[in-house]
Amino acid sequence: MKNIIVGQSGGPTAVINSSVAGVYKKAKELGIDKVYGMVHGIEGFLKENIIDLGEYLDKDENYELLKRTPSAFLGSCRYKLPKIDGNEELYEKIFNILEKYKIDALFYIGGNDSMDTIKMLSDYAKEHHKPQLFMGIPKTIDNDLPITDHCPGYGSAAKYIATSIKEIIRDNSSFDKTRQTICVVEIMGRHAGWLTAAAALAKGEDCEGVDAIYLPEIDFDLDEFLTNVKSLIKKKASVVIAVSEGLKTSDGKFVCELGDEDRKVDSFGHKQLSGCAVTLANIIAKETGLKTRAIEFSTLQRAATHLASLTDINEAEMVGMKAVEEANNGKTGMMVIMQRNDNYQITTDTYDIHNIANVEKKVPLEWIDLDNNMMKEDFINYAKPLIMGELLPIFKNGLPTHLIRK
Ligand code: F6P
Repeated sequence: MKNIIVGQSGGPTAVINSSVAGVYKKAKELGIDKVYGMVHGIEGFLKENIIDLGEYLDKDENYELLKRTPSAFLGSCRYKLPKIDGNEELYEKIFNILEKYKIDALFYIGGNDSMDTIKMLSDYAKEHHKPQLFMGIPKTIDNDLPITDHCPGYGSAAKYIATSIKEIIRDNSSFDKTRQTICVVEIMGRHAGWLTAAAALAKGEDCEGVDAIYLPEIDFDLDEFLTNVKSLIKKKASVVIAVSEGLKTSDGKFVCELGDEDRKVDSFGHKQLSGCAVTLANIIAKETGLKTRAIEFSTLQRAATHLASLTDINEAEMVGMKAVEEANNGKTGMMVIMQRNDNYQITTDTYDIHNIANVEKKVPLEWIDLDNNMMKEDFINYAKPLIMGELLPIFKNGLPTHLIRK
């Protein structure tokens, strides 16, 4: 391979830049000439918004800084390529740009919607006998990509959530029953409950854990929820409940929409989900007369590189490296996947993108303790290794420093 290009797509994570770092590192090991970056994913690429990553990453200190930089260093997008039939002009434009820059392989770091881009481009290349290679690199805090054991980005978001839940529980336990407060904490993850389930990791010797967890895998029943809350407030001074942003009632309505039906939809067709905790906290306050607090982790849970999991950072770098290695072996139309053994040793492989793009992996129902609205030990055993280890930020004037695109 002479030159390659890498892009980032979808919601950022705390470690998505470590995958860019991994792509760059392996490319340089293999003697690849230029590693380009597309600014704002395929959308920016179409406008030839392209940078030479060597200008940033040739310096070792920048490489280390990139791994400690939140958000998508290259910029992201939520853009779905249209179907090939009738849109050949757009696809030809993409391949013309690839030819212009002599790019032999394109790497895209993203979740299930973003993997559709790799599927479409590799399908087009096959149909039209184009030589370029296309590889997907997994990323999503939602942890909902199929086939791979887990997704880079999830472990760090889970670590942030479990840490913050511990801190919230301590704070909420400060007062006695005369100042009882019910906290409802809203966690991202759209249609899959992996991230919300991570609230269960807070429990330990120094923390009693959350009082209930509500995942989108289970239809939300408001009456059952209120009965549970009322029983909890009789027993405890502090009540902390974790809810998924994607909770839906059995008739398909998002809980966050209960008070507001008019939601924006992004170009992947997803409704903007937020406001579930506020909605539920208001209902609880009305029903019980008690003080409630709605906490929405929102952007913080995917941007908290200062608390990233070292395991996650290393794996994000590893899948980036693997993608380049496999493209160099001639593979295309694949995404890198991770597999674990019983001792949590991770190996990487590649898998056909057609079985991955647009598919969402949910939390197995047998890992959910429905009677207690809690996660079972199987989930804890699955998630715990993913949050291990820390990589300290590089502090300047009391704040972490980041690598910024000029
Ligand atoms: O896809 C990752 C994710 O963080 C989801 O968990 C969340 O629902 C969504 O992105 C939010 O997207 P945006 O930041 O574009 O509103």
